[in-house]
Amino acid sequence: MYKLFIRKLFFLFKPETSHILITYLLRIPFLSKILGWIYRFEHSSLSQQVFGLTFKNPVGLAAGFDKNAKLISKMADLGFGFIEIGTVTPQSQDGNPKPRIFRLLQDEALINRMGFNNDGVHTIKKRLKRRRFNVFVGGNIGKNKDTPNAEAFRDYEICFDVLKDVVDYFVINVSSPNTPRLRELQEKAPLTKLLLHIKRLNARLANPKPILLKIAPDLSNAYLDTIIEIVKQTKIDGIIATNTTISRANLKTSKENLEEIGDGGLSGKPLAKRSTEIIRYLYQKSNRAFPIIGVGGIHSPADAIEKLNAGASLVQLYTGFIYEGPVLIKKIKQELVKFNKVDE
Ligand code: FNR
Repeated sequence: MYKLFIRKLFFLFKPETSHILITYLLRIPFLSKILGWIYRFEHSSLSQQVFGLTFKNPVGLAAGFDKNAKLISKMADLGFGFIEIGTVTPQSQDGNPKPRIFRLLQDEALINRMGFNNDGVHTIKKRLKRRRFNVFVGGNIGKNKDTPNAEAFRDYEICFDVLKDVVDYFVINVSSPNTPRLRELQEKAPLTKLLLHIKRLNARLANPKPILLKIAPDLSNAYLDTIIEIVKQTKIDGIIATNTTISRANLKTSKENLEEIGDGGLSGKPLAKRSTEIIRYLYQKSNRAFPIIGVGGIHSPADAIEKLNAGASLVQLYTGFIYEGPVLIKKIKQELVKFNKVDE
């Protein structure tokens, strides 16, 4: 139904227009409830305890879809077990000029160079404060484009401080390819400093929040060893693997097309293999020392199970949700229940 009709309709529009259309449609009273009723599938065996939180199911919405926290309850109605908002920055910003999202239909992928367009942390906090949600909300935080890297820790501090009472976990995002030089913050010295800074602020809270780090799929295995060291040293609570890639290897889309599209982070099917390799590497090399949220190219229940088997405790979707629709969430949950039963 989704692929036959609804996706065809959405794909008539430019990707960002479709996204805006989806957000308006979901605001039609009761539409998300009706969809929720169609796609509903809950089961007690889906519940997962990870970094001290009990998730009702392990399938989450990845950062970037609901940057401004406008759709949390709607996405929860569709069956997601947790929603990650952001990336949020201290000041609102417009992001890069449009067009900035592109579909690679042959590859079932997207390339985006949004550039952290968002309403700013204070507006987003007000939005979150107005309501209570029945799913966990993760706050994915970053720095404004104009903030130099040497001052970046202050941007993360502001976002942490403003959101600390309205989100359930934090994600330090230093892995987006679309903010110039952001990924340099993944280097050992600045990353350790940043994580220790946020950990110190967190320790002052009556109820400290889980702090996760989101990493790029373009890191080498040797550097993943450094990431493991940093997680152990800073005692953060886990890793989200992975963000979008700057690689254009092994794509069916022609070189000319890719050149025309230009820079940006690639997501979807072509990302699945590397992101799963990273999960497996971190899980095995760290001796299961910390939880991992697996994200990148999940387009089927088998893809989700592969990430969980590689060592992820939870998974997230973005591009697969666009290509497959909300039924993907239900199918993954159904397969997981079957899979658990086989395991028993
Ligand atoms: C993203 N992603 C992303 N990640 C992040 O940490 N902060 C962000 O603001 C965004 N924004 C964003 C916009 C768009 C249009 C896309 C497609 C993706 C990355 C996303 O959360 C995820 O890590 C990757 O897309 C890989 O997962 P999928 O899409 O292959 O399931």
